[in-house]
Amino acid sequence: MPQSVEKIEAEIIKRITPSPEERKKVETTVKSLLEKVERSIKRYDLNIEPMAVGSIARDTWLPDPDIDIFIAFPLKITLKDMERIGLEIGRDVLEKGERKYAEHPYTHGIVDGFDVDLVPCYKIEKPEQRMTAVDRSPLHQKYVIDHLKEEQKKEVRLLKRFMKGIGVYSAEAKVQGFSGYLTELLVLKYGSFMNVIKSALNWRGGFRIELIPSEKMFEEPLVVIDPIDAQRNVASALSLQNLTTFIHACKEFLKAPRTEFFYPKLPAKLTTQKIAELIKKKGTFFLALVFEAPKVVEDVLYPQLRKCEHSIRTLCIQNGFSVHNSDFEIVGSEAVILFEFEVFELPKVMKHRGPPIWIKNAESFYEKWSADKNAVSKPYVDGEHLVVDILRKWMHVHELVKAHLGELSLGKNINDSIKKRHSILVNEELANEKYADFLSRYLNKKMPWED
Ligand code: UTP
Ligand code: MN
Repeated sequence: MPQSVEKIEAEIIKRITPSPEERKKVETTVKSLLEKVERSIKRYDLNIEPMAVGSIARDTWLPDPDIDIFIAFPLKITLKDMERIGLEIGRDVLEKGERKYAEHPYTHGIVDGFDVDLVPCYKIEKPEQRMTAVDRSPLHQKYVIDHLKEEQKKEVRLLKRFMKGIGVYSAEAKVQGFSGYLTELLVLKYGSFMNVIKSALNWRGGFRIELIPSEKMFEEPLVVIDPIDAQRNVASALSLQNLTTFIHACKEFLKAPRTEFFYPKLPAKLTTQKIAELIKKKGTFFLALVFEAPKVVEDVLYPQLRKCEHSIRTLCIQNGFSVHNSDFEIVGSEAVILFEFEVFELPKVMKHRGPPIWIKNAESFYEKWSADKNAVSKPYVDGEHLVVDILRKWMHVHELVKAHLGELSLGKNINDSIKKRHSILVNEELANEKYADFLSRYLNKKMPWED
């Protein structure tokens, strides 16, 4: 039964507003972490300052938040020293802390059950002074704190929960979605959660939102000019797929608002027998490349998984096999890159196209293919081109992938891992309990909010 938006909002707000006890717990942990960092910093006699940033400092966090603490260094310290000291402080403060390194080294640990990131950065006043990717964060922080009204904090929480529900929240490489800062800016721009939802119906690929004027052009699917830096697009991490999913969800939500947009139902897990049946029934060809997932941080791993998917896809398409859909997932310690082919078997013969007849090279094409053992016809005229029928090298996509895997550029760590060991599974070989969750999700194309 359709419910009123007000009722749904009230219900969700109740679920996502931190309780006084939860607030107290977060505050206590943050305070003790800041004190520990202060103590650790004393050893250096440099003007270093710790600060809590992100949603816990802006009061826009959802239950079970992460804690983001930045350690701000004066600009006179070299990048090398800053990185070294940043990691030293991280080791000092976070027992069992783990050094993480995507573009910028920082330390991650778990304290009182919270995920904690200790991130070194430079203390800057203007964005032009920035030396690392994270230096703008304290300026973002100030902007949000100065502009976001008390009653808008719940609007940010609603928007984050909605985006989480439909699977488009987080700018990390794994998701390629909306960042926390971006949700805050959207609420600032449009005023409330519901106004963001309504406004999104007018968004198109390349849509541009300026919180301050900017001349700079961007290529990304959504452009949101950073109010503290006119040269930067805050939505640069957002993929087209996630943008369109969001717009589609907004439309559907306005048509029939319901809580499932915020808390979706997972697709039912299929039995392996059902999976085998569905694969057979579809009549497409399923092929999965399985290998040990390289042990690198997600921000490094996921771009490589996408590259791997893309390279194999391109190889297949160039050889005449057309892809119906593809996807990937980390299953336990393995990476599974899945392709579903619309065309997977081709005849022995293919048409090989030469130059247009009036180009000089046409003559050498004719000479070469008149005497080639792979030619099954004489070169002949087809429209403006010379063509020749030749024997196809790969008649089945399975053989093609097997033969070329070693020479494709799949991402540095993935290439290494595949060299060590990999397997290729096809069709019903994928109906394995191990992959049942992934295949269930893949085979069920329902949107997260649908039944
Ligand atoms: P988070 O991703 O934790 O975002 O980044 P958030 O605003 O706290 O939102 P939620 O509620 O946890 O999801 C924390 C801080 O790190 C900065 C952001 O600006 C934010 O202040 N950050 C994050 C960067 O500077 N660079 C990044 O690549 C990621
Ligand atoms: Mn955070």
